[in-house]
Amino acid sequence: MKQQGLFITFEGPDGSGKTTQIQLLQKYFQQKGLRCLLSREPGGTEIGEKIRTLLLDKAHTEMDFAAEALLYAAARAQHVAQVIGPALRRGEVVICDRFVDSSIAYQGYGRQLGEVVAQINRFATGELCPDVTFFMQLAPEKARERIKARKCDRLELEQLAFHQRVFAGYQQLEQAEPQRIVAIDASGSIEEIHEIICERMEALLLCR
Ligand SMILES: Nc1ncnc2c1ncn2[C@@H]1O[C@H](COP(=O)(O)OP(=O)(O)OP(=O)(O)O)[C@@H](O)[C@H]1O
Ligand SMILES: [Mg+2]
Repeated sequence: MKQQGLFITFEGPDGSGKTTQIQLLQKYFQQKGLRCLLSREPGGTEIGEKIRTLLLDKAHTEMDFAAEALLYAAARAQHVAQVIGPALRRGEVVICDRFVDSSIAYQGYGRQLGEVVAQINRFATGELCPDVTFFMQLAPEKARERIKARKCDRLELEQLAFHQRVFAGYQQLEQAEPQRIVAIDASGSIEEIHEIICERMEALLLCR
């Protein structure tokens, strides 16, 4: 069944500008008088935030890749059941910082676990799919440059080769689902990018 609300996700490397654009997009919806819920993954619920702490902890160098993928999916299942699903059924706009595409890119391509990642996520989400996904396209080296001043978490510490596989994974996803995934050149200015995203949103809202 098609949900009532509007489900928007942002994807892309760390430092590509997701949080910056999400905050601007929330203002855009609020100016239209629409309720807009922001959330993030992994996390978004009390249980999910605990799983996030486990996942991003630099001390957990022994974490098995399958365990990692399942923990992301577990946090996501809780997030959909407790937060995203109910908000969409109330007819709200939900903007989520990362969703299933992140798992496919990072665990499927980055960790090279492959197709199984999509399978466990279909189970975790009950096949909930975003209405639109903005892929903030910025080469991993450039994204890293933007955030080099801060402390890195467990995944950010991975080698550049890992991040390049992740980026290639996102590109594959975009080619497979061009109707849902909108690639945004994230090298432009914050204002330029916001304008492009607003134009896409206007077009999408007109079609609904
Ligand atoms: N278009 C842009 N041009 C230059 N700098 C930017 C742009 N967008 C965001 N930034 C800056 O780059 C840094 C990372 O941005 P932001 O936190 O929005 O990225 P992110 O994708 O949410 O990263 P993370 O995945 O780590 O949460 C911030 O310091 C932000 O101010
Ligand atoms: Mg962010």
